[in-house]
Order: sequence, then C-alpha cells, then structure tokens
Amino acid sequence: MAIERTLSIIKPDGVKNNRIGKIIDRFETNGLKVIAAKLKNLSKAEAEGFYAVHSARPFFGELVEFMTSGPVMLMILEGENAIAKNRELMGATDPKKAAPGTIRADFSASIGENTVHGSDAADTAAFETSWFFAGIERAN
Ligand code: CMP
Repeated sequence: MAIERTLSIIKPDGVKNNRIGKIIDRFETNGLKVIAAKLKNLSKAEAEGFYAVHSARPFFGELVEFMTSGPVMLMILEGENAIAKNRELMGATDPKKAAPGTIRADFSASIGENTVHGSDAADTAAFETSWFFAGIERAN
C-alpha cells in the first residue's frame, strides 16, 4: 500500500469540546502521523473556497457559518493508505450512521456539527493540503 498524505480538520465543535487530544490519539495509535498542524480561525473566504465543491448545496451557508464560528485544528496526516484510514476512523458523515467506536459516533452531535473533516480521494487531498499549508510548513 502507498504512503499517502491527507488533510484532517478538527471542526469548531471538536476544538470547543476539548477533543483535540483524543482525536489525535486515535490517528497516532492507528498508524497516522501528524506532519503539519495549526489552530486557525477561518475567514469566510477561506471556508467558502475550501468547500467550493458544495457551493450549490442547500446546506452551504450553514456549513460556512459553522466552520467560521470558532477555531479549527488543521493537520496533514501521513501514513499507509492515509486517505481511507482517516475516513474509516472518522466514520460516516452523519454521526447517526457512523459505526460504533468512530470519532463521529463518539463525539458528534449532528451531520452539520460532525467534529472532523477528512479528504475523500487523492485529488481532493492534494487540493485540500495545499489550500491550508505551504510546503515550508510541513515537517518533511
Ligand atoms: P465534511 O466531511 O466536512 O464535508 C462537507 C460537510 O457538509 C459535511 O462534512 C457536513 O458536516 C456538512 N453538511 C451539513 N449538512 C449536510 C447534509 N445534509 N449532507 C451532507 N453534508 C452536510
């Protein structure tokens, strides 16, 4: 399997509820390494650009409002099969449908406030990691 990089975001609910340490622990104990990280308050333009693929969806305004409501933890994770592994650890987008023991099943209140984001494919991982991190900000 290939070593991949993927973008992880701990969303405003996860930061507000003090879940940063517990979530990173799940990544680290499952073979994913944090190679870049920063806590940031997203501007409206940063959130809108990041989620541009969803701009026509009815929940877009709410999504941008939520993602700019407080600080988020941005990370690049690296490891074998990192994109799929991160998504497996997060669980389904809707926490009500997320498998037991996943991050969203354990920590999330609703589909809107679902605690974490992870890139869903190699092309989105490349776009999303470069949206938030310059090369100089990565550990290697
Ligand atoms: P995320 O993986 O960050 O990608 C887009 C986000 O839109 C998603 O997680 C959800 O938090 C949010 N969202 C809000 N409402 C919906 C919805 N009805 N269907 C899908 N995603 C939604």
